[in-house]
Amino acid sequence: MERMIAVIGGSGVYDIDGLEDARWQAVDTPWGKPSDEILTGTLDGMKMAFLPRHGRGHVHSPTSVPYRANIDALKRIGATDVVSVSACGSFREDFAPGEFVVVDQFVDRTIAREKSFFGEGCVAHVSMAHPTCARLSAACLQAARDEGITVHSGGTYLAMEGPQFSTLAESKLYRENWGCDVIGMTNMPEAKLAREAELCYASIAMVTDYDCWHPDHDAVEVSDIVKTLIGNAEKARGMVSRLPRLLGAHKPCEKGCDTALDHALITAPEKR
Ligand code: ADE
Repeated sequence: MERMIAVIGGSGVYDIDGLEDARWQAVDTPWGKPSDEILTGTLDGMKMAFLPRHGRGHVHSPTSVPYRANIDALKRIGATDVVSVSACGSFREDFAPGEFVVVDQFVDRTIAREKSFFGEGCVAHVSMAHPTCARLSAACLQAARDEGITVHSGGTYLAMEGPQFSTLAESKLYRENWGCDVIGMTNMPEAKLAREAELCYASIAMVTDYDCWHPDHDAVEVSDIVKTLIGNAEKARGMVSRLPRLLGAHKPCEKGCDTALDHALITAPEKR
């Protein structure tokens, strides 16, 4: 099966460098419209897609991003691999602003979002034990290293509801008691939905700040985040451009992401 990498870009990343036959296309889904039109094209012989998570002009808040429509739209256009690029705060001294983290675990503290394609009428319980695709994550790590980016392999991402940043008590709880490494507002339920859609999912979290736990960094400010993001955007785009050569257009994933539903459906077949 021909593979297609879809990049869901966060703040600061709004397209893919060097994309051939690039065109923005509108895609509709039973879950509504995605965040924006989807940019499609070819890079190094591989089909690529790009979806701005917050929409061009940053019009969707982390809570109002249409996560189900986004994942469904990418599935409909043939995406097989979803690479999430997003900003995050850091809970670790050694994960400094400007550095990247290839996230491999999540704690989901979001509370106001639709989190599943399943429910009334058809019930499924997919495994989220390993929420990211090891093959796609390894390619992202390699691409980042090849691009000269300081990148950390693995980390636990606390997904918070927002839009406000954390209190000091929350920040300390996530860091000291829960052992989380980074914090952001967008990777959940995106990762859960990608799994339900049997898509490979990898997350590159770009560190923009130390949240508020750090004694030398009292409070998070959007202006500081934007400054770091602008610096990071170029690096993120360089990293994405390397992925087709590392992944190959026809190499299958052996990690089982594309069979996630095989043992997950619980509703009797005649009722579905
Ligand atoms: N995105 C970037 N920095 C963040 C932080 N400190 N908390 C939540 N989301 C973020």
